[in-house]
Amino acid sequence: MSDASKPGNDFTRRQFVHTSTAAIGAASLVSPSLGWIRGDDTIKVGLIGCGGRGTGAAGQALNADPGVVLWAMGDAFDDRLQSSHGNLVAHAGERVQVPEDRRFTGFDAYRKVVDSDVDVVILTTPPHFRPAHMRAAIDAGKHVFTEKPMAVDGTGVRSVIETAKMARERNLNLMSGFCWRYNMPNRECYARLHDGAIGDIHTVHSTYLTGPLGKRPRQEGWSDMEWQMRNWQHFNWLGGDHIVEQACHAVDKINWAMNNRPPSRCYAVGGRLCREGLESGDIYDHFGVLYEYDDGARAFHMCRQIPKCWGDNTEYIIGSEGNCSVNSWGPTQIIRNGSNEETWRFPRNGANPNMYQVEHDELFRAIRNGETINDGDFMAQSTLMSIMGREAAYGGGVVTYDDALNSQNRLGPSEYAFADLEMPPVPRPDDKGA
Ligand SMILES: NC(=O)c1ccc[n+]([C@@H]2O[C@H](COP(=O)([O-])OP(=O)(O)OC[C@H]3O[C@@H](n4cnc5c(N)ncnc54)[C@H](O)[C@@H]3O)[C@@H](O)[C@H]2O)c1
Repeated sequence: MSDASKPGNDFTRRQFVHTSTAAIGAASLVSPSLGWIRGDDTIKVGLIGCGGRGTGAAGQALNADPGVVLWAMGDAFDDRLQSSHGNLVAHAGERVQVPEDRRFTGFDAYRKVVDSDVDVVILTTPPHFRPAHMRAAIDAGKHVFTEKPMAVDGTGVRSVIETAKMARERNLNLMSGFCWRYNMPNRECYARLHDGAIGDIHTVHSTYLTGPLGKRPRQEGWSDMEWQMRNWQHFNWLGGDHIVEQACHAVDKINWAMNNRPPSRCYAVGGRLCREGLESGDIYDHFGVLYEYDDGARAFHMCRQIPKCWGDNTEYIIGSEGNCSVNSWGPTQIIRNGSNEETWRFPRNGANPNMYQVEHDELFRAIRNGETINDGDFMAQSTLMSIMGREAAYGGGVVTYDDALNSQNRLGPSEYAFADLEMPPVPRPDDKGA
């Protein structure tokens, strides 16, 4: 549960983007720019978290540049690793160069991947582990592609902010899996909005209304830890609840529309209408969050994972001179003037390459050219906004951005072992005695 209201804040919204150098370890002041990777050099990639997204991302890395090879793989579980390895060999043949002794399993697999002479690391485990994995990779001088969300609690977000600063200082690429930022129609639409197409943006409403994710029922021989990890989306400590794990995309698009300026505070509702049984863990199935900004702007986010309901994944963006709707599933991007007449839409036959491939094309191009992409600021901020919404719903109170950023809350066990692990209770606002 949150302790977002604890005093003693060190971080503020203003400081967010300019984290103190003193907070970063001395090692980060060394600058081993990897601009030395020449056009004909092999780029060795390590994959940490060999599930659905990790296998996809590794495939996209291999597609992005003919000099990329997959060099090392790590996963908590051997069966996940071997199945991913088989799929990638089928996809890329001999460019998958991962012999048995560079296939690592267990909780320390990430370290072994990082230490195996790779140039780039792909982070695609459940988000609980992300801050530590990201720090290890950047600390070791690796370029990073990291899936969203970046963390599940304030402690993790602060670590990510510091790691992003280290990456910037060391000229290392740090690209996030907030993939809509790499979607060409959305990019063109948001660029028009930021050029003033609808005047000053004062209201945004984003939705992620969808069905539930698949559950993994417990199997004989699995410890509590193994069961929770294999069913990670349903446990707050591992996935951050669905507003953080999945709907963070829609929260990120609020953040994008607001030009990455953080809200001052939020309040929220949430609960669990249809989730039941142990496999449903401790997460909610719906949230509604109202974000308030210092200048009076407001953003509302609603997400739901309930079967047989109406679905929507749209941003409704309202400005002083018009409005815009961006439907990610359509996909449609439409801008209207103050009389609600359509003035622009992304053409049906416009270029719309696979955004997951665009991410890796841009990442590896940057690495080849000695350039750096650093998504650190917005990826940490969008993750924190999602966490704020969750904590406001769980706790029933108002959560400020600075309180969330300075929260000492750290979810999950302090040590990892395939052993007993208590089933967490479903959070209830009245637990707080409010
Ligand atoms: N950008 C997108 O559109 C998108 C889509 C899907 C998933 N994702 C994100 O990608 C991440 C992975 O999701 P997924 O769908 O691939 O899940 P998944 O369960 O298929 O894969 C996660 C893998 O990580 C492994 N793992 C768990 N803990 C580990 C640890 N400590 N060390 C090493 N490996 C560990 C698991 O065994 C599993 O193989 C999540 O953060 C998710 O939110 C993003």
